[in-house]
Amino acid sequence: MRNVVLYVNVLIRIGVAGLIWIAGTSCAPRMIEMEGHRVFNPEYIWYLESENRDRWQKPDKVIEALQISEGTVIADIGAGGGYFTERFSNQVGKRGHVYAVDVQDVMIGLLKERVKNRKLENVTVIKGKFGTPMLPCHAIDIAFFSSVYKEIDDRIRYMKEVRRCLKPGGQVAIIEFYKDRGLVGPELADRLSESEVIDEMRSAGFILIRQFDFLPKEYFLLFRVADAS
Ligand SMILES: C[S@@+](CC[C@H](N)C(=O)[O-])C[C@H]1O[C@@H](n2cnc3c(N)ncnc32)[C@H](O)[C@@H]1O
Repeated sequence: MRNVVLYVNVLIRIGVAGLIWIAGTSCAPRMIEMEGHRVFNPEYIWYLESENRDRWQKPDKVIEALQISEGTVIADIGAGGGYFTERFSNQVGKRGHVYAVDVQDVMIGLLKERVKNRKLENVTVIKGKFGTPMLPCHAIDIAFFSSVYKEIDDRIRYMKEVRRCLKPGGQVAIIEFYKDRGLVGPELADRLSESEVIDEMRSAGFILIRQFDFLPKEYFLLFRVADAS
C-alpha cells in the first residue's frame, strides 16, 4: 500500500512538472525586442483589454485621484491599445485634449482604429521615439504612464524630455506593478520597485507629491517638477 501511494505521488509530481514545462515553453514571451529595445509583446493585448481589467485597474478611481476634468490636457504615454486613452477622452471633453503616444506600429494602428470607431475627436495619436515622446512643448497638464515606465531605456534622460512637455505646474503619474505582489503581469525581473522609480524621477528633476494605494496589483505615484512652486 505504501508503495502505491509513493508511486502515485511520483506520478503527480511528474505530471505537475510537465504542465509547468509545457506552459513555460508554449507561452509567447511577455516582452519582445524592437530596434534594440525591450517592449511589451502586442500578442498580450488581450490582457490589457480584458473585460475584468476594470476590477483591478479601477480607471474611474485613477481619473478621480488625478483630478482629470473638463479641459485637462493629458498625455497617455505608452498608450498601448488605448484602454486609458478612451476613458481620458470622455473625461476631458471638447475643451481638453489627449495625446496617445506609443512606439510600436501595431499599437499606433490599434489606437487610430479606436479613435475612429469611438469618434474620439479630442485625441491625437503620436508615434513616439524611444528617446522622446514627440509631444509639443509646455502643453501637457498630466503625463500619464501605466505599465510603461519600466520599458523605457535611459529613463532619466527621457523624463527630462517629458519635463519640457509639461505646462507650469504639470504633473507626471506613474503606475507600475509591485515587485513583490503576484505573478500575473510583467515578469518579476522586469519590474521596478517604488523607491527605484522615485530615485530616478528625483534625478530627472521631479519630486513625489502623492502616493495612492487603492490599486491591488500596482503602485501609483504622482510627481511634479522639483523647482515648481
Ligand atoms: C504594457 S503596455 C501598457 C499599455 C497601456 N499604458 C495600458 O495600461 O493599457 C506598454 C506600452 O508601452 C509602449 N512603450 C514602450 N516603450 C515606450 C516608449 N519609450 N515610448 C512610448 N511607448 C513605449 C509599448 O509599445 C506598449 O504599448
